[in-house]
Amino acid sequence: MADSLTKSEQRSSLHGHWSSRVGFILAVTGAAVGLGNIWKFPYMAGMNGGGAFVLIYLACVLVIGLPIMMSEIMIGRRGRRNPVATMQILGEEESGQRKWGLVGIIGVLGGFIILSFYSVIAGWTVAYVFKTASNEFANTNAQSVSEAFNSFVGNPFITGFWHTAFMTMTVILVALGVEKGLEKAVRFMVPALLVLLLVLLGYAINSGSFMEGVVFMFQPDFSKVDGGTVLAAMGQAFFTLSVGMGSIMAYGAYLPQDTSIVQTSIAVVVADTAIAILAGLVIFPIVFANGLETAEGPGLIFQTLPLAFGQLAGGAIFGTLFFLLLGFAALTSAISLMEPAVAWMIESHRLSRPKAAIVIGIVIWLLGFLTVLSFSTLKDLTFLQGTIFDNLDYLASNIMLPLGGLAITIFAGWIMCRNSSADELDPVAGSVYKLWRLLTRYVVPVAVVLVFLNAIGVFS
Ligand code: PHE
Repeated sequence: MADSLTKSEQRSSLHGHWSSRVGFILAVTGAAVGLGNIWKFPYMAGMNGGGAFVLIYLACVLVIGLPIMMSEIMIGRRGRRNPVATMQILGEEESGQRKWGLVGIIGVLGGFIILSFYSVIAGWTVAYVFKTASNEFANTNAQSVSEAFNSFVGNPFITGFWHTAFMTMTVILVALGVEKGLEKAVRFMVPALLVLLLVLLGYAINSGSFMEGVVFMFQPDFSKVDGGTVLAAMGQAFFTLSVGMGSIMAYGAYLPQDTSIVQTSIAVVVADTAIAILAGLVIFPIVFANGLETAEGPGLIFQTLPLAFGQLAGGAIFGTLFFLLLGFAALTSAISLMEPAVAWMIESHRLSRPKAAIVIGIVIWLLGFLTVLSFSTLKDLTFLQGTIFDNLDYLASNIMLPLGGLAITIFAGWIMCRNSSADELDPVAGSVYKLWRLLTRYVVPVAVVLVFLNAIGVFS
């Protein structure tokens, strides 16, 4: 092959491509925007005291998440295979070590764990589509919304049913291999979600407690911060951006050569962060206006948003549409959570796509019942971080994603030679490249390690 072709150009015939630059941005946005922004961000901020957590989260997104996202896309595009094979191939090429494939394998496992609980919460979301549509929340109050939520999650048969329904949808779409066909859906979904959040923001502004919500979210009180808070904020940054486990790497494998990785990453990070902040600005005023607890936990959006929909004119319609869009945003993320494992199975075990999707889907579906039970039958079974769900989330978001991200960043900054990364990252943007390399080689690894050490109490 001609020398003037980059590695990824040489390998690109192995794969199909996203239809365009915009198509890729939409696909990665679909992977990134999901329950992490609207369900998890507000309740994590609420449980961790608000302002200071939000500030640390924003810093982690910018300084750690963004450079890792660029590295993941770059590695994915250069390897042009599933994350395990890509890390093996590039590891071999750059350092003679195929062992780097382990990073891909840890990512695949992380995806299993995350999707197992993600699917359960997505199931709640779908159930709430029907609850709002049937006008269950018209003119209700905080207490009855909470009661309705608690009795809903307390029934493992019902939540198990919705988890099963959601997982089935995910498996069908992954089996059909429509990831790339989802671009059109995301093109509609993300703006629509934004519009509905703005409608809700209007409601929050009129709720009488808007400023209280703003103060809670943006006035940092560092006395509430300990090592655990910082780790939680970093974990949230990884989770919401989908970095550290190979999802973005798997998508990068289909990225056309002429697309700017830097611009794409910035666009996705801005969209993702804006949606999370907006969700917080909607939720917290409702919390304060109704005398609810900020530290309500995973049920927070399900105990606040129905109040807004119950009082807004046309609320049943808005509410139905909102939970539908959120369910859809969860679906595009769920698909990306399965893609590394499925692509790996197809490419290494020569399984067909439908078979791979079904096998992996069944394992994740079974694992999901641990989360179903964590909110019902086994909700009093707590250890380490809390319920089984709390522990699964902690393990995946706060440990596996940051460790994966650390390995990816070390690979991109220290193992890959300068020529290789400069080749992939926009050669035109010289100073941006220098900044990326500085962050990737020094700032990101040091920051992640310090956050870990701080969380285990080394500095206190
Ligand atoms: N980023 C997704 C969300 O915010 C979740 C996700 C995590 C997806 C990791 C893929 C990989 O909902």
